[in-house]
Amino acid sequence: MQRIAVINQKGGVGKTTTTVNLGAALARRGYRVLLLDMDPQANLTVHVDKRPDLESHTLTSLLVEDTPLQELVQPTTLPNLAVVPSDTSLAGVEQVLANRIGRETILREALEAFPGAATFDFVLFDCPPSLGVLSANALVAADHVVIPMQAEYLSLQGMAKLLEVIQLVQKRLNPALKIACVLPCMLDARTNLSTEVLREIETHFGSLLTKTRIRNNVKLAESPSFGRTIFEHAPDSNGARDYEAFANELLAMIGAGAPKAAAVPTTTPPAQRPHEPPAAAAEASA
Ligand SMILES: Nc1ncnc2c1ncn2[C@@H]1O[C@H](COP(=O)(O)OP(=O)(O)O)[C@@H](O)[C@H]1O
Ligand SMILES: [Mg+2]
Repeated sequence: MQRIAVINQKGGVGKTTTTVNLGAALARRGYRVLLLDMDPQANLTVHVDKRPDLESHTLTSLLVEDTPLQELVQPTTLPNLAVVPSDTSLAGVEQVLANRIGRETILREALEAFPGAATFDFVLFDCPPSLGVLSANALVAADHVVIPMQAEYLSLQGMAKLLEVIQLVQKRLNPALKIACVLPCMLDARTNLSTEVLREIETHFGSLLTKTRIRNNVKLAESPSFGRTIFEHAPDSNGARDYEAFANELLAMIGAGAPKAAAVPTTTPPAQRPHEPPAAAAEASA
């Protein structure tokens, strides 16, 4: 089971979009994938058509009450893709765990004790936009880090802090942790600024910068409001093509083997209704 943390303490850079659609791209290839929503905003939970307000068992139960992971894993509407949802109570976890010894290793221990670990090929952690105890848990439990980044002025700001935290985790708690790649997201290839910023990112990260570019694509922005991944929402879009390409590149990069199991259908097909009016969805993507 390969564990991948999708992290960047900046909000709105493409973490959740990347986690969901990378997960879906891997699941479509027959890999069994578990998505962990580690953000109190629960965007990933909504994106895979769950209702955070109705989820009684979320990641909070695992982190605070030691609920075993197997009690929290839920199927999604897609074969091979399961999720541990989040809800707003996750926001309180930082405080609740503030004085608890070993708080950074709770998730790793839960994964080690998870009897289902052998059936999953990948676990993807969708991190919150902060570098607190939730992100620390993801970094301690992960083998690989994927850093989505927007090719924008100031997008490198904060990177030093993230790299410092990753290095600290490597030194103290998880020597096996590796940065897999830096993924440029929401790219507008027509602007000189994007090209310049990409060059700057490349100077910093060298070969860690992926060859794949996730272009700006309105279909990617629309799909969460329908509770669908890009592959159901718009399979012929640039968004679907880009995340397919990223899945290929990542698989090669981390040397993943063949899937453990053939595709197993889970629940009913995706609902047709959006979660919110299209106007609100369009606004959220602006
Ligand atoms: N490539 C893209 N093109 C257009 N919109 C995108 C793209 N990637 C993400 N978005 C939208 O941008 C917003 C922020 O993306 P999200 O993945 O939620 O970022 P994060 O998880 O880092 O906060 C969301 O509304 C999302 O739908
Ligand atoms: Mg997010």
